[in-house]
Amino acid sequence: MSLRRLASTALLATLLLAGGPVTVSGSDKIFDDPPPPLPKELLQNAKLIARGDEIWKEQCTHCHGSKAYPGKAPKLVPRRYTPEFVWDRVHNGFRGMPPWKEVYSEEDIIAIVAYVLSDDFWP
Ligand code: HEC
Repeated sequence: MSLRRLASTALLATLLLAGGPVTVSGSDKIFDDPPPPLPKELLQNAKLIARGDEIWKEQCTHCHGSKAYPGKAPKLVPRRYTPEFVWDRVHNGFRGMPPWKEVYSEEDIIAIVAYVLSDDFWP
C-alpha cells in the first residue's frame, strides 16, 4: 500500500470514528428529536390510552397532578396542547421536565400522549 493511500485510509477511519450524534456534554443537545406522525386514530387507541394511564400514575403524578406539592410542576392543560407538543416535552424534556426518551420506548411515549389528550386524563 502506498504511503498516500495509507494516509487517506487513516483519515477515513478517523472520520468514521468521530461520527455519531452531535452532542455537547450531557443535556446540552443541539437538536431535539422531531416527533413521529401522531394521527388521531392512533391517539384514540384504547390500549395505548390504558398504557399511558399506567405510566402517568407511576411516573408523572408526583411532579404534576393532584399528588404533587404546589409549584413543583405545572398543572397540565391538555386542551391547549397539540400531540406534537406533548410528545416533544415528554420525549426531549424541557428545563425542569426530565426527558423520557431513554426510559420509555417510542410506543410508550405515544401512549402517554394518547392518555394526556384523552377524555380519561385525570391529573
Ligand atoms: C421531576 C418532576 C417531573 C416529572 C417526574 C415529570 N414532569 Fe412534566 N414537567 C415538569 C416541570 C418542572 C415542567 C415545566 C417545564 C417548563 O416549562 O419549564 C414540566 C412540563 C411538562 C409538560 C408541558 C406543560 C406545559 O403546559 O408547558 C408536559 C406535557 C409534561 N410535563 C408531562 C409530563 C409527563 C407525561 C410526565 C410523566 C412521564 C412528566 N411530565 C413527569 C416536571 C416533571
